[in-house]
Parts: sequence; C-alpha cells; structure tokens
Amino acid sequence: MTEPKIQIYENAEKVVEALAEDFFQFCGKKEKAGEKISLALSGGSTPKALFQYLAENFEQKINWKNIHFFWVDERCVKPDDPESNYGAAKHLLLDPVAVPAENVHRMKGESDPEQEAIRYETEVLSAVSLKYNLPRFDWIWLGMGEDGHTASVFPDQLALMHSERICETAVHPVTKQKRITLTGKALNHARRATFLVTGKSKAEMARLVLKEPELRHKYPASHIRLSEGELEWYLDKAAAGLL
Ligand code: 6PG
Repeated sequence: MTEPKIQIYENAEKVVEALAEDFFQFCGKKEKAGEKISLALSGGSTPKALFQYLAENFEQKINWKNIHFFWVDERCVKPDDPESNYGAAKHLLLDPVAVPAENVHRMKGESDPEQEAIRYETEVLSAVSLKYNLPRFDWIWLGMGEDGHTASVFPDQLALMHSERICETAVHPVTKQKRITLTGKALNHARRATFLVTGKSKAEMARLVLKEPELRHKYPASHIRLSEGELEWYLDKAAAGLL
C-alpha cells in the first residue's frame, strides 16, 4: 500500500477548484476510453461547496450521463430531510446537471436500516464493476470528522472497517442517529479515494491520521489504505496546519 498523496491549497475554495478540475480531466479520459464512471459521494458540509462549484462551472463540460452516483454513507432519514446526504447532492448537483435517474444509486435512508444495508450491498454488487468479486469504485470522495470518522465508520465502531460485508448499519456515537455505511471492504477496494478536508478544526486529527503511525489506528480515516488504488488528501492550509 502506497502512502497517500497530500495536496495542500491556500483555502477551501482552492481545494474545491482543484478537485473539480481533476474530476473534469478524469471524466474526459474515461469518456474517451468509452468507460462509465462509478463515483461514491460522502455527505456532511465539506462536499457541498464542491457539488455547487461543479454544477455552476462544469454542467456543460462534463458528460454527466456517463457517471453513476453512489454514496459512502447515509443518515437514516427521508430523502427530503435536511440531514440527507442524497438530498444535499440532489439539490446541489444531480438536479442542476440533470443526472439521469437510472444513474443515481442512493441509499434509502427512509427504509429499515438493516434491510437497506442488505439491499444496497446487492445494488452495489450489480451496478459497480467487480474485481475479486468485490465492487471497485472508480473514485470515492471522503470526508473526515474531527473524531477521525469517515463515511459513517466512527471510532467506537472500527470493526466496520474490517467487516466481511460491503454495507452495514452504524450509529452516530453522540446523536445516536442511525446510519448506513459502506465498510472498509468496499472503501479500500476503490481505484481512487480522495479525502476532502478543510478547516482548522480538522488540523489535529489530520496530523494524527497522517503523521502519527503509533496512534492513528484508533481513527477510522487512517484505515482507508487502498489495496490497489490511489489514495490522496486534498487539504486547505488551515486543515494542514499541523502537518
Ligand atoms: C456524513 C459524512 C461524513 C463526513 C464527515 C465530515 O454523512 O456526515 O459522510 O463521513 O464526511 O462527517 O463532515 P463535514 O464535511 O461536515 O466536516
């Protein structure tokens, strides 16, 4: 497993612009090769600026019909709930760039969590290309919480990083909100994974995960170590301040 590639930008806007440009280049290469793209999104606040920037600046430049959208996790709420990761992506990106409904593979937060985890695993296995019988996402965009969680794998549920399943249920340790999340089995099998981390509040956890080999095992974000893929961190100077 190679070490992550770390890219540091002046501010959050520059991080978003850089990732958007990289995504544009990536989409062009895949389209030229006649290949569809499987992209798994994170939720939370950080990606919202990226979704908005892509919709505003790349609506005409990217062939959105060539991209299939998945989620790394979802809150167990209805899709029109302000907490919904799918709802945010739909509002900020999927609708503005007219992604076809058949390209949207959402986790159904409104369903029974355990049944949905089983259903989603089946959907991912049928919709994402496989390698060694495991889904191999072309790209996953990840965030990291101040506690070092990623997707909805929280520090007190680290076993999800080593699950035999592809999709499981989880519980937010503070709010007790039920979640559905991809597990390490799916996340670490991606061709490419990018952490999008900005803001001073993430600086200490970024340091622990990236610079403290003796301590980092406690934090789920450090368990994202692609077996055969490219792992990268896009940070702004504030989040990278302690590296
Ligand atoms: C979620 C996300 C989660 C997120 C981190 C960071 O459902 O909340 O998928 O893993 O990426 O919590 O969230 P922020 O971007 O809001 O800091």
